[in-house]
Amino acid sequence: MKIPQHIAIIMDGNGRWAKKQNRPRSFGHYQGTENVRNIAIKANELGVKVLTLYAFSTENWKRPAEEIDFLMSIPAIFIERFLAELMEKGIRIKTIGDLEPIPEKTKKVLLRAIETTKDNSNMTLVFALNYGSRKEIVNGINKYVEDVNNNCAPYPLTEELFEKYLETSEFPEIDLLIRTSLDYRLSNFLLWQLSYSELYFTDIYWPQFTGDELVKAIEEFSNRQRRFGGLNE
Ligand code: IPE
Ligand code: IPE
Ligand code: MG
Repeated sequence: MKIPQHIAIIMDGNGRWAKKQNRPRSFGHYQGTENVRNIAIKANELGVKVLTLYAFSTENWKRPAEEIDFLMSIPAIFIERFLAELMEKGIRIKTIGDLEPIPEKTKKVLLRAIETTKDNSNMTLVFALNYGSRKEIVNGINKYVEDVNNNCAPYPLTEELFEKYLETSEFPEIDLLIRTSLDYRLSNFLLWQLSYSELYFTDIYWPQFTGDELVKAIEEFSNRQRRFGGLNE
C-alpha cells in the first residue's frame, strides 16, 4: 500500500449522524472529536506525515450561536483529553486559519499545545480552524503586494513564490482528500492546494469513519494512477 504523505479530511456529517439517533447536533460533534483522536493515531501508525482536518470554516459562523459556542470549545476539549497521548506518539499540532476571533480560552489551550508539541517529529496534525481558502489566497496576495512595495519580494509573482504566502507553505503537497457523508464539494477548503490531489468521497458519517475506513481510502488511493497532466508510463 502506497501511503500518502499528506492527507486532508473534510470531517462532515456530525449533525446528520446525531439526528439519526435522535440526539442533539452537539453530541455528533462530541463523537466527531473522539474520532479525530482515532484517525490521528491510525494515520500516524500508517506513516502519514501530515493530516489536515477541516474543523471550522469561515462560513460556519452562519450557524446558530449555541452550536458555534460548542464548536469553538472543541479544540480545548480535544487537547485536554488527548495531549498526553499525542506527546507519547510524537504528534505535532499546528493550525491554519485565522485564530483572531476564536475565544481566548480555546486559543490559549491551542497555542500551548502547539508549543508543547513543536519538537514532535512523527506526524503533524493540522487543524483548519476558522479557515477559508478564498480568504487565505486573498491574504496571501495582500502580503505579497506589501512585500513588493517594501522591496522584499520580486515581481512578477510565480507559483512557487505564491505558495510561500499560503498558510500551508511548510507542508508537502496534499496527496489525498477525503470527504465523509457523501457531499461532493470542497466547501472552500484548500482550493489551490488540492489542484492535483486524489479525491475520495464516502457515505460514512464522520463519527463512524474508523481506522479501517481510512485504510480503505488509502488502498483506493494506492490503486489510482496520478498523471499530473502527463501520460501513463
Ligand atoms: C461537520 O459536521 C462539522 C462541522 C462543520 C464543524 P456538520 O455539523 O456539518 O454535520 P452535518 O453536515 O450537518 O451532518
Ligand atoms: C465543511 O462542512 C466544513 C467543515 C467540515 C468544518 P460544512 O458542513 O460546513 O459544508 P457545507 O455547508 O455542507 O458545504
Ligand atoms: Mg456539514
